[in-house]
Amino acid sequence: MKRSIFGAVVASTLLSFSAQAETISISCGAVGQELELCQQGIAAWEKETGHTAKIVTTPNSTTERLALYQQLLAAGANDIDVFQIDVIWPGILGNHFIDLTEYTNGAQDAHFPAIVANNTVRDRFVAMPWFTDAGVLYYRSDLLEKYDEAPPVTWEQLTTTAEKVMNGEREAGNDKMWGFVWQGRAYEGLTCDALEWVASYNGGTIVDEKGNITINNDSAKQALTTAAGWVDTISPPGVLNYGEEEARGVFQTGNAVFMRNWPYAWSLGNSEDSPVKGKIGVVALPKGGEDGSHAGTLGGWQLAVSKYSANPDVAASLVNYLTSFEEQKRRAIVGSYNPTIEALYQDEDVLTAVPFFGSLYTTFANGTPRPSSATGAKYNQVSNAFWNATHGVLSGRTDADAALTKLQKDLKRISRGGRW
Ligand code: GLC
Repeated sequence: MKRSIFGAVVASTLLSFSAQAETISISCGAVGQELELCQQGIAAWEKETGHTAKIVTTPNSTTERLALYQQLLAAGANDIDVFQIDVIWPGILGNHFIDLTEYTNGAQDAHFPAIVANNTVRDRFVAMPWFTDAGVLYYRSDLLEKYDEAPPVTWEQLTTTAEKVMNGEREAGNDKMWGFVWQGRAYEGLTCDALEWVASYNGGTIVDEKGNITINNDSAKQALTTAAGWVDTISPPGVLNYGEEEARGVFQTGNAVFMRNWPYAWSLGNSEDSPVKGKIGVVALPKGGEDGSHAGTLGGWQLAVSKYSANPDVAASLVNYLTSFEEQKRRAIVGSYNPTIEALYQDEDVLTAVPFFGSLYTTFANGTPRPSSATGAKYNQVSNAFWNATHGVLSGRTDADAALTKLQKDLKRISRGGRW
């Protein structure tokens, strides 16, 4: 008798558990350690909740990922419940996501207010910040010491130091050595790099906050002309086809003095099997001349729940879990992914693992935003026109003057005369 009551209780508990357990899907990125960290976070959430989440893999290039998301969402497909979205997409995709306000219990108040504002579209909070990003300059501390050079403060200094160290190392036998690697492929990553050059020469942000097209100016021309001068001198010709991972590959194998990249490259560069482990320094990206400014493009990723999800409650539970203090702390320590929770920039464990989260705090708190808020749903067209114009200058097809004059015209047309 006793036994059968016990059996019945067990059976009914299992039943209620399985009746509630749901399976959802999430799109996680796979750049660097992203996929692995996402899998671990999901596994912990599954254990805590009894639900299951499947990962849908998406392209590494943010430009290709956007195209895929647009197709799925335009069709109202429910293949993906939780979308990992770029900081520049709330204005493009926001209509397809639920307002998370009623699910987060105010957790967003602990995150950088600028990112929360960025993720709020027409009063709807459409995505929870997950990690932020800003472009930084990596350098080989051992090589700068060997050649008695300091980390550069201006692009002009970077150019001179890169040449000196590159030539010295080539003469010493490493004929694969380059001075500076970065993201030069015609895609969103080039928009990020080129915005940094332009802003560092005080040439603005392509389109200003009010929606005025500002890109056709002398400082921007100087910035693009300077960058074009690096190709096939201190930077390999192949840089015109590099994304983040190609640049990291060259730097991490020990074949570049400087690299522009996002913070995730720090952990990997210092991993056990990395040839440059312990030989890396990180500083703010250089200024355009003495009167210029340090500029790091604001990047980063958010988690959003699809309007077409059959399980928005469960999806929001996963979003809350992955964006929590503990998860952001773990991801910062293991993968040098920048938290969006401000308090973690004072956390000792985080600062020990990634010291430049402290020394470059202002770079992360005041990243240079791309003009995605001002241009809204048109942002991708704006960026596409900008990266193509830039790529033309870098590859020598056109000069900066002609490229930016044409870009201004293109942007006027895209904006229908400045009315975004
Ligand atoms: C990084 C940034 C993202 C940016 C992308 C460009 O993933 O976080 O904001 O758009 O790089 O490649």
